[in-house]
Amino acid sequence: SAALRAELLEIALDAAARAGAFLRDSRPEDLGVAATKSSAVDVVTEMDIASEKMITGLLADRRPDDGVLGEEGASVEGSSGVQWVIDPIDGTVNYLYGLPSWAVSIAARVHGETVAGVVHAPVRGETWRAVLGEGAWLNDRPVRVRPAPDLGLALVGTGFGYLAERRARQAEVVRELIPQVRDIRRGGSAAIDLCDVAAGRLDAYYERGLNPWDYAAGDLVAREAGALTGGRPGEPLSPELTVAAPPGLFELLQARLEELGAWHD
Ligand code: IPD
Repeated sequence: SAALRAELLEIALDAAARAGAFLRDSRPEDLGVAATKSSAVDVVTEMDIASEKMITGLLADRRPDDGVLGEEGASVEGSSGVQWVIDPIDGTVNYLYGLPSWAVSIAARVHGETVAGVVHAPVRGETWRAVLGEGAWLNDRPVRVRPAPDLGLALVGTGFGYLAERRARQAEVVRELIPQVRDIRRGGSAAIDLCDVAAGRLDAYYERGLNPWDYAAGDLVAREAGALTGGRPGEPLSPELTVAAPPGLFELLQARLEELGAWHD
């Protein structure tokens, strides 16, 4: 119902604001790597872990029966039909280095469908939010994708995974794509990249190998701003491939990525 969606959005905004303020204001000067995951460059800091703890604690206080899926291991089945999908810091490497483009990403799914999403980038002073069927906002202004240019004039965002073989493939795809588009951007946060498509700051975005917590909230923001999102042609967005762009450009980019075998490792 509309009331449930509004409640979930309000809770997500509150949790993202609190975690974001903590991450921005308490970032240790000598922040180091607490652990590595899939490879030596796939890092977790103590702050990722603290942020996820803070967010899951806030959610459990407000809605104890909900499920939770978090990047740093939070996993609760839940019994309410609502599931929270959390990236406590999307853009961890930017955060580690003191670059501004990192965000707290929180999405609420009801019976598997994302109905509310928040991407909060405290250092940029930017918060995107969306509710299914009700549009997307950047701070207090509604956002809209920019009109689709030809592929050759598109500014395209992308990102790279952490495994060396995957990166080698991703570099081959980028090598093919660069001469066929306006330019490429690698911002370092998939959630913000999707929101940048929503706000007309990128024409399109694609990446191989994201996880649900990277894209759950940003996907809803992009769609509510008029973007199409998906995976390979005819398939939904998935960890295999994420593509976001306005109608017209979306199909061209999807087809081009299919020709290039962008989903291969
Ligand atoms: C990463 C960022 C990055 C993308 C990676 C993600 P994390 O998320 O979104 O832009 O290229 O694939 O893993 O690890 O910083 O939460």
